[in-house]
Formats: sequence, C-alpha cells, structure tokens
Amino acid sequence: MSDAVDSVPGSHWERVWATKPPETLSWFESAPTTSLQLIETHASPSNSVIDIGGGSSRLAGCLYANGYRDISVLDISQSALAINRQHFNTDTAKINWIVADVTSWSATRAYDVWHDRAVFHFLVADTDVEHYVATCAAAVSLDGLLVVGTFGPNGPQACSGLPVQRRSITALSACFARDFMVVDTAEATHRTPNGSTQELVFIAARRIKNLPS
Ligand SMILES: C[S@@+](CC[C@H](N)C(=O)[O-])C[C@H]1O[C@@H](n2cnc3c(N)ncnc32)[C@H](O)[C@@H]1O
Repeated sequence: MSDAVDSVPGSHWERVWATKPPETLSWFESAPTTSLQLIETHASPSNSVIDIGGGSSRLAGCLYANGYRDISVLDISQSALAINRQHFNTDTAKINWIVADVTSWSATRAYDVWHDRAVFHFLVADTDVEHYVATCAAAVSLDGLLVVGTFGPNGPQACSGLPVQRRSITALSACFARDFMVVDTAEATHRTPNGSTQELVFIAARRIKNLPS
C-alpha cells in the first residue's frame, strides 16, 4: 500500500475498521448489486476501475470475478483495505491498493471508471466537494464513466457518527455537470445489518470533455 495519510477523519475511519466486524457496519451489503449493475451496463472488463472509499466492499472482488483486471481500491483506512484484500487470492490477483484521503489526493494515472458508494456524501465542506469533483474529472478518461451513490433526500442525516449531505438525483447530477453527462440513474433501498432501511441514489455519467492541454 502507498500514500499513507493520517488526519482526524482518517483516525476516525481507522478506528471504525480496526474495531468493528465489517458485517456489522450500517453500509455493509453482501452483494453490491446496484453498483455492479450500473458499471456492467456502461463499461466492460477491458476498462480500468477505481473504487473510491471502497472499504470492505465486495465490488472489487465481483469485478475481478467478472474479468476486470485493472482494479484500484482507494480508502483512507489501511485496515479497511486489509479486510478487502482478504476477498482475493493475493497470489494471482493484482489489485492496486491506495491508502489516501480523497479530499487531498490526486490521481497519477487515468481511470475508465470511477466508482463511489457512500463516500461523497461525507463531504460537507464546499472546498472538499470542489476538490473531489476536480480530482474525479481529472482522473476519468474522456468518455469514461462515473458511478456515484449517496444518501437520497430521505436518507439518514448522519452515518458512522459523522454528518452527511443528502442529495436528490438532480442535485447529485448538478455537482458533476460541468464535466459529466448523466446516462443512467438508480434508486436503492439499502437494508442495514440491524434491519433498518436507507435511501440511496446513484448516477452513472460519462466524461464529456477532455482535459485542457
Ligand atoms: C460508508 S463506508 C462505504 C464503504 C464502501 N464504499 C461500501 O459501499 O461498502 C465509507 C468508506 O469511505 C472511507 N472514507 C471516508 N472518508 C474518506 C476519504 N476522505 N477518503 C477516502 N476514503 C474515505 C471509509 O474508510 C469507508 O471505508
């Protein structure tokens, strides 16, 4: 793993991942159905994928099983990535694990697919949102795909003890409208391990402009 970062939010997440079993965390899903469906509808196994704030999500493992071979998973927590790594046979799977805070990170290469489930909504400061959107636009190749899922208007107001920004599909689309054109949307009702439900909204959007040279 590279680019180790320690900051106050990083300490929070490190503590969460180091002390709680992944299957007990509110965002846990045994199968990343909506994410997978949007990615596989609009991308193909020859595409490179980065999962932002991937945590212990099964997404990277599912993509690998479906033939994707250029997969990166970024998370602020090293412990989260260590758990995610257990889904792979590390002798054969070459996954790029990146420990970094997406609010201060910059990609050093291009990706065809940028995926984020339940990370963008933690960015409540305008500067963090702006950095995220600019980083995402710079990282995704022309015609590449953005899939981002956040709490919807009726979703929780906090998660993991942190405030979140809830958004409609329209508001989420507007955040990325300068550089991406929405090609698909989805609404999902997530059932948490304790049995409650949470509204999530997703957009899939294409990178429409090349980087200025
Ligand atoms: C709610 S969990 C979602 C995990 C995963 N995407 C999923 O759907 O199961 C949020 C994840 O984002 C990571 N995270 C939170 N803030 C981050 C940041 N600023 N940069 C990178 N990762 C972050 C956390 O460690 C955690 O793994």
